[in-house]
Amino acid sequence: MPRTTDDLIRDRERLLGPNVATFYNEPVHIVKGEGVWLWDADGRKYLDCYNNVPHVGHCNPRVVEAIYKQASTLNTHTRYLHDTILDYVERLTATMHASLDTAIMTCTGSEANDIALRMSEATTGKRGIISTDATYHGNTALVSQLSRSNIPSVGFGLDQYFRFVEAPDSYRNPDPDGSLFAEAVLEHIHELEKSGIGFGALVICPYFLNEGFPEYKDGWLKPVSDVVKKAGGLLICDEVQSGFGRTGTHFWAHEKMGVVPDIVTLGKPMANGHPVGGVVTTRDIMKEFRSGFRYFNTFGGNPVSCSAAMAVLDELEEKDLVSNALTVGLHARKRLDELKSRHIAIGDVRGSGLIFGAEMVLDRESMEPASDFTDRVINAMRHRGIIHSKLGRHKNTLKIRPPMPFSIENADLLFDTLDEVLAETPVST
Ligand SMILES: Cc1ncc(COP(=O)(O)O)c(C=O)c1O
Repeated sequence: MPRTTDDLIRDRERLLGPNVATFYNEPVHIVKGEGVWLWDADGRKYLDCYNNVPHVGHCNPRVVEAIYKQASTLNTHTRYLHDTILDYVERLTATMHASLDTAIMTCTGSEANDIALRMSEATTGKRGIISTDATYHGNTALVSQLSRSNIPSVGFGLDQYFRFVEAPDSYRNPDPDGSLFAEAVLEHIHELEKSGIGFGALVICPYFLNEGFPEYKDGWLKPVSDVVKKAGGLLICDEVQSGFGRTGTHFWAHEKMGVVPDIVTLGKPMANGHPVGGVVTTRDIMKEFRSGFRYFNTFGGNPVSCSAAMAVLDELEEKDLVSNALTVGLHARKRLDELKSRHIAIGDVRGSGLIFGAEMVLDRESMEPASDFTDRVINAMRHRGIIHSKLGRHKNTLKIRPPMPFSIENADLLFDTLDEVLAETPVST
């Protein structure tokens, strides 16, 4: 007998332990996906406006075929010679600045960030790391220290090496040219140097997705990049969420923000759900790392993973999905602006390409976050067959980040439904 929803919730707690998070007050039991659509166990269809891992669409036939073909031929690891990893790294690095020409393949974004931090220590000889105070970069003992929300009492005492700069917030604290953010980072750099720990690296998502994707002009990160490089540190751009064309204007968000990082880390969308991550860096940094650490990853860079990742690049290119992200994203912004003119709870509208959303407030003057209201909106949308979520420091920003084949018609269904839900949901209870 298949488990009911109640059975599933109970057995998760019994078999997986407490605090294993689910989305929504009534979690969804999804059993099938195709393109931008999901189906639950009762056969109900949902429009997926949230999942960025199935980047080229759920169960994309090209990716499924690539996995099947390679898995039925051979799967080993990188201690044997094989072409696919070389073809993939060549193709991937060709999308970035010429200096970023070598890579390590991993299985997760966390591993990629873990390597990046160790590369920074190997290169600079220093351990001080700066990230924002409202982000997430992964779950290893080292990388989990980058998230202020993680419990500091566990983590092998590594927290002494981490400093948190206030996350950029274009709505509440305008910083049009990025100089205030650069100054704030510089203060932490000075403090790290004075403390004797020294400054190793700044780690940021170049589009600040977990922080609520503040709206800044292209090139906004240039001042902070200058500060980091002048201080002899490394700029690590975590493109786990922002990369592979999501912003529509550029293939990489760091390009959009006007910087050339020393290290780029990758994950989630890279192989459409097959567990693939990666670290791209310069030849010199790679040399320092490879000399300082003996690194091997049993599954990272295996032929099946590389075939899946290659199929994602093929699909993006052939279906011109980055241009699609731009077109649909512009349409979404228009629709969101129009909703803002009619729904007082929408305080700010933001986004580029297929990452967009709106910040909900109790009052436009005070900008007080409407966090509970946002939660109720998301739950109501789920009951109407629209899957999305919330993010940001106050968890009051709608997080809409669909698979890249998302169309204007899909966006219209999302916003028509959101219009109805906003009209029906009281701002305070
Ligand atoms: C920006 C960012 N970096 C890294 C990670 C960690 O990736 P993974 O869960 O594959 O380890 C995440 C996951 O949510 C992320 O959002």
